[in-house]
Amino acid sequence: MFSNIAVKTYLIGFYANSGSVLHLSTKISCNIDYLVHSFVLQNKSLMSVATSRTGTEDARILIDHSKCTACGLCVKVCKDFSLLLEDKTLKINPKPLFGCIGCGHCVAVCPYDAITVEGRTLSASDYSVLTFPEKPVVFENLFPFLLNRRSIRDFKNKPVEQALIDKILSLSSTAPMGLPPSDVSVMVINGREKVREFSFDFIDMLGRMQWMVSPFMLSLMRPFISKDDYLVFKSFVLPMVSFFTESRNRDENYLLYDAPLAMMFYGNMSDPADPYIAATYATLAAESLGLGSCMIGSVGPFLKNTGKDFKKKYKLPAKMRDSIIVIFGYPQVKFSKTIKRSFAKVEYC
Ligand SMILES: Cc1cc2nc3c(=O)[nH]c(=O)nc-3n(C[C@H](O)[C@H](O)[C@H](O)COP(=O)(O)O)c2cc1C
Ligand code: SF4
Ligand code: SF4
Repeated sequence: MFSNIAVKTYLIGFYANSGSVLHLSTKISCNIDYLVHSFVLQNKSLMSVATSRTGTEDARILIDHSKCTACGLCVKVCKDFSLLLEDKTLKINPKPLFGCIGCGHCVAVCPYDAITVEGRTLSASDYSVLTFPEKPVVFENLFPFLLNRRSIRDFKNKPVEQALIDKILSLSSTAPMGLPPSDVSVMVINGREKVREFSFDFIDMLGRMQWMVSPFMLSLMRPFISKDDYLVFKSFVLPMVSFFTESRNRDENYLLYDAPLAMMFYGNMSDPADPYIAATYATLAAESLGLGSCMIGSVGPFLKNTGKDFKKKYKLPAKMRDSIIVIFGYPQVKFSKTIKRSFAKVEYC
């Protein structure tokens, strides 16, 4: 199908049921063979994976055959099977797994700059040569850095500079995601007063629905929930909600601890883990910048099915999925001991 690549051609192929080309546009190029590939297949198994940002758009693969040595490295790393070697020539597979998802791995691995992928939010300027070809961080540095990190809930009354906020966002955007491009959004709440307003709005909302998490409701729910869930509700959720409302009545903010900065990471069509991973990166970015941080998991679960007006005020999607907040600021306390943590279980099978 794509064998006649000696002709300098942009091939924009839209495939219907039979795989016949519906639209073809030709452009003369002096010394480069580009094969631009975009499948829209009615067979759903060959449709590129949907994200809220890109729909089912396929990324476009461009091969510069004047540079390609057919070494096969890009074929090896492409787990979508979008690429194949045929007759010692790199070709675009008409039957990939999903359709190019725009992970960029083929571009990143090519030693000869012979392939590029655009679309699904990627453009040529997104690729650059590795800044540190050798690993800049080794285990011996990383481990104490992580071991010394503590959650910080006491902050100086000092704003976090915009330059640091930008750095946190840049670093956390490097987090892996279930499938590119990331479907994680970030709501930045910048300033102590804004963080306080957000906290109290949320606690007021909790107060209005406190009956839902009352001991009476819990006893009604008991036959329908597991023993573990019951214990978590009784020992954690119930006292937490009461505490938030009582302390809010004393004008105290124990939800987001009057931090000068908070960020909510929330997902859309993404893997539910994506917001948590990005948030984790944000805490590490903060640590490396001399800031303290703490994850706040007590807001997200309540926003999944409730809080219409609250979500409207903060321009959050009406249908929220997984989310997590991270608070940041200059630490008021200094820890002098580290704490050894362990997993519940580590088993080799
Ligand atoms: C997913 C997640 C949710 C959390 N939620 C809260 C929270 O709502 N409020 C809070 O004060 N700390 C919260 N934390 C912080 C933990 O309590 C803290 O990480 C834990 O006690 C261990 O302390 P360390 O981070 O200093 O090692 C959360 C941490 C994680 C990972
Ligand atoms: S890695 Fe580069 S040179 Fe090797 S086959 Fe792929 S595009 Fe060609
Ligand atoms: S961007 Fe990813 S999915 Fe697309 S061809 Fe390259 S390696 Fe395959």
